[in-house]
Amino acid sequence: MNIKDSWLKSGFVNEPVPTDVDIKKEIVRLKKEKNAVIMAHFYQTNDIQDIADFVGDSLALAQQAKQTDADIIILAGVHFMGETAKILSPEKKVLVPDLNAGCSLADSCPPDAFKTFVDQHPDHTVLTYVNTTAKIKALSDIVVTSTNAKVVVDSLPKDEKIIFGPDRNLGNYLNSITGRDMVLWDGACHVHEKFSVEKIVELKQEHPDALVLAHPECKKPLLLLADFVGSTAALLKHSISSDATKFIVATESGIIHQMKKESPDKTFIPAPPNDSTCACNDCEYMKLNSLEKLYNALKYEWPSIDVPESIRIDAVKPIDRMLDISKKAKL
Ligand code: 13P
Ligand code: SF4
Repeated sequence: MNIKDSWLKSGFVNEPVPTDVDIKKEIVRLKKEKNAVIMAHFYQTNDIQDIADFVGDSLALAQQAKQTDADIIILAGVHFMGETAKILSPEKKVLVPDLNAGCSLADSCPPDAFKTFVDQHPDHTVLTYVNTTAKIKALSDIVVTSTNAKVVVDSLPKDEKIIFGPDRNLGNYLNSITGRDMVLWDGACHVHEKFSVEKIVELKQEHPDALVLAHPECKKPLLLLADFVGSTAALLKHSISSDATKFIVATESGIIHQMKKESPDKTFIPAPPNDSTCACNDCEYMKLNSLEKLYNALKYEWPSIDVPESIRIDAVKPIDRMLDISKKAKL
């Protein structure tokens, strides 16, 4: 097997970085030479967040991908984030350091089954969470992220019939805060569903002054006991603006890196999952990316994300609608 075939098989540039290479320096040099930009999601490892030109949530990454004048976007996140960037900036090369960085929530919504679901609700507007494949976006009327989902739902007439997918927890949460009765697809994220309410209640007893911050992909009992519910960007913002000095954080633990950077004197406790002895919940897909894979991706300009034009032209419309509504709402 030649070297490119072996990379194709592994989904990333499977080449050890020589020990005499200063990876961080080389990334900075290659970025400049190739007019590349590194955009990282809050769930990436600390070293990737620190070398990135931009760190943000799903909405901010899409906004940045649309407006950048770089020739190459390294999207340090999961596959659907790379696809979203490619859909918005088709003329640019979009690289994701490890193509195996998928998403259990996106996987919980296969296009054929979702198409049947859409066809069964012909008079409904189709809202989909950004954590989906390009094919699902192409079947949608408007895409949302957790930062703008409420604003997008509120922008629709009160009597509009809506189907929402794929996240049932975010869907239920949106129904409860908007008074809608959206028909929900039954999907979920395995990372956010795993948090243990019992262990969080115990932590709360140990730290009565701590506020519980939760992402809306978490299950309802956890959202009910949370002091604040919001997207990763909203949780970060709340940890900065709140007078509280201690927080139990119920989302992927990568966000704690930015929280600590912004508020070095505050304490952040990762919420534990229910099925292990570990003290935090990591997304194994997000954590597939590493600085070495990112360096190799930049060096070899591979693996790149490809979206067939026939899908892209349908997928870009609902994303653009989301970006327009977000802009008007100053998000
Ligand atoms: P946000 O970045 O929109 O908060 O979403 C979190 C998430 O689960 C990304 O996979
Ligand atoms: Fe997908 Fe969940 Fe990982 Fe986010 S945390 S990328 S929703 S599997």
